[in-house]
Amino acid sequence: MDFLTATTQARPQYGIIIKPESGQPLPVRLHTQLEIGFGNGEFTVQYAEAKPEIFLYGIEISQSCVLRCARRAGGLSNLRIINTDARYMLRELFADETLEKIIMQFPCPWPGNGNAHRRVTARDFADGLAAVLKLGGVFEMVSDDEDYSNEVWKVLGLHEALNAESFEVNPARGITTKYERKWLAQGKNIFRLTFTKTKKFTVTRRTSQDMHIKINHNVTPDDVASLKNL
Ligand SMILES: C[S@@+](CC[C@H](N)C(=O)[O-])C[C@H]1O[C@@H](n2cnc3c(N)ncnc32)[C@H](O)[C@@H]1O
Repeated sequence: MDFLTATTQARPQYGIIIKPESGQPLPVRLHTQLEIGFGNGEFTVQYAEAKPEIFLYGIEISQSCVLRCARRAGGLSNLRIINTDARYMLRELFADETLEKIIMQFPCPWPGNGNAHRRVTARDFADGLAAVLKLGGVFEMVSDDEDYSNEVWKVLGLHEALNAESFEVNPARGITTKYERKWLAQGKNIFRLTFTKTKKFTVTRRTSQDMHIKINHNVTPDDVASLKNL
């Protein structure tokens, strides 16, 4: 039984955390969605419960958030949790045209030029989004930061495979996140941006490409030590 078909019977009190195999795209079902940066997992679990017809992956870089989400997700069979960095791993974990929706809520806006590579608008990340979404699939970003939302709207809207669909201010949302409630309580506006994939698009996967290094001599302890800084 692989993790796509696994049930939570063995440890029903926890959700299923998976560790994907390098170079192998994750299995998907007909309606597979992804949430990036789910924080405490409150939205994630409520969303997966409310939509039993979808199969949801959640990627989160923080280990403590992953554990918090897993504690909430006990018994849920349509959610798989992954502890990794979505910036690098989105394109490695999913094959082209496999996700019907990618949700990102209240991502850190990473202001300033020095942080440009960390933002959703970084070309590398935008290309990954455009590749793994199905044709007609949707990227939804929710933020409290107007400047950041305007930047995402402009930059992703210029991507050749994405169409900027809607920019809503304070949309009614059935399920909310912890950060959303915090900002709303402070009287801040919430912005929801949606983009649709309109054209086929692909990207190079690094795990099957330049992560391999050929060493033309017997491996020495120095070779192994040199890997530490990678
Ligand atoms: C401001 S919090 C928002 C959490 C949640 N979405 C919410 O609205 O309550 C941003 C989350 O994104 C996660 N995150 C930041 N960079 C990430 C990355 N590169 N890959 C995956 N998760 C990331 C952080 O650990 C954090 O949990």
